[in-house]
Amino acid sequence: MTKDVDSRPVLIAPSILAADFSRLGDEIRRAEIAGADWLHLDVMDGTFVDNISFGPMVCETVKKASSLPTDVHLMIQRPDHYFPRFVGSASNITVHVESSHNVATTLEGIRAAGCTAGLSLNPATPFEQVEPYLESIDLLLVMTVVPGFGGQSFMPEMMAKVKAAAEFRSRHGLDFRIEVDGGINAETGRICVQNGADVLVAGTYLFHSPAIAESVSLLRSLRTE
Ligand code: DX5
Ligand code: ZN
Repeated sequence: MTKDVDSRPVLIAPSILAADFSRLGDEIRRAEIAGADWLHLDVMDGTFVDNISFGPMVCETVKKASSLPTDVHLMIQRPDHYFPRFVGSASNITVHVESSHNVATTLEGIRAAGCTAGLSLNPATPFEQVEPYLESIDLLLVMTVVPGFGGQSFMPEMMAKVKAAAEFRSRHGLDFRIEVDGGINAETGRICVQNGADVLVAGTYLFHSPAIAESVSLLRSLRTE
């Protein structure tokens, strides 16, 4: 089990937050053609984070425009109340451990609704806070910036949590994905993969890249180096 998990390919999830919304359909196609595995959708409510992005309607639009799995990241205060509105447009729904909800019940509800369930933790949150839930998730999202905005600098000190997650996963024979989000590029992505991450979210690096296909391939090749 451990060996299989460790040899899985790294998945690349472009965050559409950095896309040009005036031509969102074209941007999605650009990411698809470049070889993206998932599309990462950052939902922000202006309360849990200091920014407001988009909600279910944009997620539905993306779902209609693409055949890729959608990775919906809910940076919102009441994910228990709102997640049902994303079920139709999400393959995976990730909620934060810091939000105001019963985390176990929300994760169970997401799975019961037919999506995979992710759990995320902010830079200030210790790894121990997510430990009780690691047997009930499909993905752990370790934030490598304070969530709210694209284009911030990667926080290398978060690698201790990525490493702890990979160790916990192997010790308990689990297979949840370990995703990182914030400031990811070829250089920081390499550090993440070396520490055990296997899903790389990247907004600015990919959508602002002059050659997005090369950038996707570069991120994907990090596992085999
Ligand atoms: C941060 C979001 C990220 C963000 C990443 O609040 O969760 O997904 O879009 O953007 P970059 O890759 O530009 O740091
Ligand atoms: Zn995100």
